[in-house]
Amino acid sequence: MDNQYADLNLELQELIAGMEQRRGKVEAGGGPERQQKQRDGGKLTARQRLDVLLDPGSFLEYGTFVEHGGNRLMQGVEAPGEGVVTGSGTIHGRQVFVFSQDFTVLGGSLGKMHAAKVAKIMDLAAKTGCPIIGLNDSAGARIQEGVDSLSGYGEIFYRNATYSGVVPQISAILGPCAGGAVYSPALTDFILMSRGSSYMFITGPEVIKSVTREEVSFDALGGADVHTRRSGVAHLEADGDEAVLGKIRDLLAFLPQNAREKPPIRPTSDPSDRATSDLLTLVTPDQRRPYDMHRVIGTIVDDGEFFEIQPDWAKNILCGFAHLGGRVVGIVGNNPKYMAGTLNIDASDKAARFIRTCDCYNIPLLTLVDVTGFLPGVAQEHAGIIRHGAKMLYAYAEASVPKITLITRKSYGGAYLAMNSRDMGADVVYAWPTAAVAVMGAEGAANIVYRRDIQKSDNPEATRTEKIREYKETFDNPYVAAAKGYIDDVIPMEDTRRRLISTFQMLQDKEETRPFRKHGNEPL
Ligand code: HXC
Repeated sequence: MDNQYADLNLELQELIAGMEQRRGKVEAGGGPERQQKQRDGGKLTARQRLDVLLDPGSFLEYGTFVEHGGNRLMQGVEAPGEGVVTGSGTIHGRQVFVFSQDFTVLGGSLGKMHAAKVAKIMDLAAKTGCPIIGLNDSAGARIQEGVDSLSGYGEIFYRNATYSGVVPQISAILGPCAGGAVYSPALTDFILMSRGSSYMFITGPEVIKSVTREEVSFDALGGADVHTRRSGVAHLEADGDEAVLGKIRDLLAFLPQNAREKPPIRPTSDPSDRATSDLLTLVTPDQRRPYDMHRVIGTIVDDGEFFEIQPDWAKNILCGFAHLGGRVVGIVGNNPKYMAGTLNIDASDKAARFIRTCDCYNIPLLTLVDVTGFLPGVAQEHAGIIRHGAKMLYAYAEASVPKITLITRKSYGGAYLAMNSRDMGADVVYAWPTAAVAVMGAEGAANIVYRRDIQKSDNPEATRTEKIREYKETFDNPYVAAAKGYIDDVIPMEDTRRRLISTFQMLQDKEETRPFRKHGNEPL
């Protein structure tokens, strides 16, 4: 015992020693052997993770001495801390609430009291208006506790849903997350996974083999690559626990504490009126010459820094956060470098979710448009592109944050609307001189509208070329839309940063009210 107590009376010394002994036992988790196994697997322990995530010395633990509820199967079973460490701390000096599951204690499995500890800090986070961060490393429902552990999941899922859009919720997946352990993260705003040491699946390889005879490894079934590239379940991945926890710290810098606040301002030395002349060579009038929208964003935003969300999934659309004049913006942009920037099912899902996340947390939206339309194809139609594309329309129409749309080149057809046109609620629409707004591209349009003229012509190819040129002259520019007020101004490309910063500043106190309803019925 600490000798600072040496002068106290003996009884008090014993009480303090008892407290320290109990605390030591809880802090030891599943014991040195299991903790070593955790480290051998390249993972940090539950408490080490909190040390990396939070500002030094800021962690305050609650529920330290909670024990399992006990039933016949749990008799004699020890579960220090109930397999989860819970409390509050700060990140960049701002308060957050955290839970960190301890895989060394019964595989981090979730029993009734484990869930009660998590629910307690979720409630505190909602009451005090602070983000909730879950560090997940769990084998799912604690088998010995039966229906009680299912009920425990229910308590958490209920809170995930109830506090959705109230305070930001972030989930790190840092080990095997099986069964119920994946659905709480799936109900949160962001999921980050550690590459090589984390998995997410509803049923594991063993069960799959017995039911469907498919043989698959943990990694191939639900590793970070699968969920950040194929399924779209996770938003970010990184190598190892420390890198994932670092990304959570970075992500929080873009988010407010709760839905009543705005995100923090980050002062910058990047001048607001810096000319963005690089855009003049990056985006040429030749519609067939693709460019990378990342480079457009990098040229415009503060210090060229773009924090991309889901960078490896549905690459035909970009979503992410940046600062403009110190203020956070959420950016959605077609990327002509992939699939000519067309919108497909995954891109629609990705963008719709991101738009709604920004709207929840008062993050203004910048939409960069270069899109020929929705991706044509039987597979897309049969898989429900109508239902998925509608999510984007709904999300933009619903979002009441400041919204600026910038048309960089093509904006055609349904995708013109899905990329937040004036009528879908954009507060200000800008276009570059390279922009073209039309129902479809000139080639397709001329072939349909002038089919008879082309067929009747002595020289169909010459007529076709002439009609395409005619159509282009009429519609393939921003001025028809600008003349009708659908575009507020056609701006010099080199003036883009200054215009966007000034316009977001003009919109910063925007308020938009909607008719009463319980909640909308967005397409899912
Ligand atoms: C209680 C469990 C447990 C569980 C593992 N353990 N799973 N205890 N309930 N669900 C214990 C083990 O007995 C072991 O205890 C310790 O945790 C570590 O487990 P290992 O198997 O040794 O670890 P590892 O080899 O790394 O494998 C990890 C694993 C595997 C892949 C997660 O343990 C596994 O498949 N577990 C079962 C997963 C599962 O089916 N969960 C229920 C899902 S149903 P000792 O004492 O030896 O250290 C569900 C329903 C909810 O969640 C649905 C809500 C929608």
